[in-house]
Amino acid sequence: MLNIVLFGPPGSGKGTQSEKIIECYGLVHLSTGDLLRAEIANRTELGLRAQDIMQKGELVPDEIVIGMIENRIDGTADPNGFIFDGFPRTVEQAKALDGLLDKRGLEISFMVSMDVVRQELIDRLLKRGQDQGRSDDTLEVIENRIKVYENQTFPVMDYYKGTGKYRGVDGMGSIDDIFSRITEVIDN
Ligand code: AP5
Ligand code: MG
Repeated sequence: MLNIVLFGPPGSGKGTQSEKIIECYGLVHLSTGDLLRAEIANRTELGLRAQDIMQKGELVPDEIVIGMIENRIDGTADPNGFIFDGFPRTVEQAKALDGLLDKRGLEISFMVSMDVVRQELIDRLLKRGQDQGRSDDTLEVIENRIKVYENQTFPVMDYYKGTGKYRGVDGMGSIDDIFSRITEVIDN
C-alpha cells in the first residue's frame, strides 16, 4: 500500500495535486479540510463546532480531525492506499496517525512537501477567493492561516525528517511541472 502525506502551506497545491495523484495511482483522497467543509454544509454538530474556528483560520481540535480520519480509513474497503491532504497538521496528529495506522498493520510510505514562496500563496488564494468564494480566502484570514502553518504545522516536517520519510519538491511553476516532480518522487 502507498500511503502518502501531501504537505505544504495553505495554497501550496495540496488539493490540486491530490486530484492528479489519485487519478494516476488509484489512491483514496483524505482531506480534512474537505471533510470539515462537508460537515458544515450538512449542518452537523461537528460542523457547527468547526465553523467559527475555520472562519478565523485557526486549527480545529486534534481529536476531531483524528476521529474523522480514523472513521474514513475504517470505512474504505480494499484501498490501494491513501493520500492525506491537510493532515497531519500538528505533531500530535502525526503521532496519532502513526499509532492508528500501526494498529491496522499499515504505515506512512513518505511525506511529499511542497515549497512555495509566501507571496505566491497569497496570490493563488486571493484569486480562488474571487473565483470560487471560499469564505476563508480573504487577505486577513489567509495571513492568519500562513501564521498558524508556520507556528503549529511546520514542525510536522521535522517529525517526518526524523523518521527518514521526508521528500521535498519545488512547489513553484505550472501544475503539470509540479505533478511530474511528485511522480518522480513516488516512482522512486
Ligand atoms: P484546508 O482545506 O486544508 O485548507 P489549507 O491548508 O488552508 O489549504 P488550501 O486548501 O487553501 O490549499 P491547498 O494546498 O489545498 O491548495 P489548492 O490545491 O487548493 O483547511 C481549511 C481549514 O480547515 C483550516 O484552516 C483549519 O481550520 C481546518 N483544518 C483542516 N484540516 C485540519 C487539521 N488536520 N487540523 C486542524 N484543523 C484543520 O490550491 C490553491 C489555489 O491555487 C487553487 O485555486 C488552485 O487552483 C491554485 N493553484 C494550485 N496550484 C497552482 C499552480 N501551480 N499555479 C497556479 N495556481 C495554482
Ligand atoms: Mg486544500
